[in-house]
Amino acid sequence: MENVHVIDHPLIRHSLTRLRDVSTRPQEFRAITTRLTGLLAYEATRDLRVKSVPVQTPLQPTTGSQLAGRIGIIPILRAGLGMAESLLQMIPAAEVWHLGFYRDESTLEPVVYYNKLPLAEPVDVGILVDPMLATGGSGAAAIRAVHEWGVARIKFLAILAAPEGIAVLKGLSPDIEIYVCAVDERLNDQGYIVPGLGDAGDRMFNTRWEDVDPAP
Ligand code: PRP
Ligand code: URA
Repeated sequence: MENVHVIDHPLIRHSLTRLRDVSTRPQEFRAITTRLTGLLAYEATRDLRVKSVPVQTPLQPTTGSQLAGRIGIIPILRAGLGMAESLLQMIPAAEVWHLGFYRDESTLEPVVYYNKLPLAEPVDVGILVDPMLATGGSGAAAIRAVHEWGVARIKFLAILAAPEGIAVLKGLSPDIEIYVCAVDERLNDQGYIVPGLGDAGDRMFNTRWEDVDPAP
């Protein structure tokens, strides 16, 4: 599908397997999410604009490159936070704008609880991050908000996607560039990606109350 990039790479497959593993604890889950986001970001930022700049090395002046334009990293709370920091490490001059959505587990519809996008002066490139693209409800709501802000170029980075979620985002706007580590088989009756990795936010932030274990 056009503008849908599944980054198939041995390092990604290896780390994604650890992320899926039910025995992976939150600390490792966060570390792997950081690593996978870095690998995704490497591909997703390949076409960012640069401008030529002069630079003085210890030996002589030469010409180098500098990222051009304003880049916005937009994490979808909560789980998107686990990806935003990794991306910010790669693009330290980026702006970070937060969007808060949670999925109503009975209707699977996104509920907005935080939107601090400014009304003016949109960034040149908006990079939305959320580990899970399931029904696509949260992603679509985020893309609408970023469109309303006036951002012309939107990239959506997720660790895992379901075919249903990708179809929803592409139906909303074919120009959206989607980068994922894998597209899984389907959604189950509860709207979870299968085989998937479970609830990303709970696993990342250790809020899976049903199997409380004080071990690290
Ligand atoms: C998860 C995930 C996405 C959303 C994906 O968030 O991080 O935002 O579900 O599902 P969808 O594509 O069907 O909308 P969740 O609602 O669990 O909130 P949380 O990050 O606060 O746990
Ligand atoms: N949100 C998650 O965290 N996991 C899923 O599988 C679907 C939505």
